[in-house]
Amino acid sequence: MFSVSIEQVIKERRTIRTISKQPVSIEDIKALLEVASYAPFHSKEEPWAVIMIMSPEERSLFVEKIMDSYERMNIWARYDQEHLAASKKRTEDYYLSVPVTLIVTAPIHEKKKANFEAVGAVSAFIQNFQLAAWSRNIGVTWRTVPIIFDDVFKQEVGVGSDRQIIGLLDISMIDEAVKLPRAKRKTVDQWAFHLSEKLSENKE
Ligand SMILES: Cc1cc2nc3c(=O)[nH]c(=O)nc-3n(C[C@H](O)[C@H](O)[C@H](O)COP(=O)(O)O)c2cc1C
Repeated sequence: MFSVSIEQVIKERRTIRTISKQPVSIEDIKALLEVASYAPFHSKEEPWAVIMIMSPEERSLFVEKIMDSYERMNIWARYDQEHLAASKKRTEDYYLSVPVTLIVTAPIHEKKKANFEAVGAVSAFIQNFQLAAWSRNIGVTWRTVPIIFDDVFKQEVGVGSDRQIIGLLDISMIDEAVKLPRAKRKTVDQWAFHLSEKLSENKE
């Protein structure tokens, strides 16, 4: 069996923002969700829930709600007003072109610790999904566009008021021709320190 190490997948995975016309199958999506659900969690019940946008009907309704939310959240105010119509069209066309979007949510807890744990677990779930998708040649963009904080948008796309959106995952097959972005990371020595180093820093 062909196999690559987990370290290789972690390092090679990139956010893929180029959309391919190739379809993504429901079998693949379900298999990836199942794998993702082996993320750690620290609550009685697994905290993740997912809404899948796959059919053309779901897509057009979803994009309509996105565009309404962009207006409601006044997002266009930060765009170049001279070319606003083109920006709106580009945005709408992009969202219409995505083969599959997943709305991934976590429960909202009033208690800070429980809320933190739910967000952490669902973020781990998303990263599991991204890694497993990469190994099937499926690209993901984890998006936290401002509309995820719009209560009206949440309600219109079926997210309960007791849940928060942790990400919209835009999903597409990775075309062979896509030039993969290069990964840049700081070296470990730039952000990992011995306690003794930190304490002596404080004394200076
Ligand atoms: C919590 C979170 C939110 C993100 N939101 C967005 C987003 O709204 N739009 C976007 O294009 N990418 C988004 N990304 C993707 C990051 O920009 C990307 O992971 C980063 O540039 C590093 O690139 P890599 O994923 O290829 O390693 C997000 C990533 C994370 C972890």
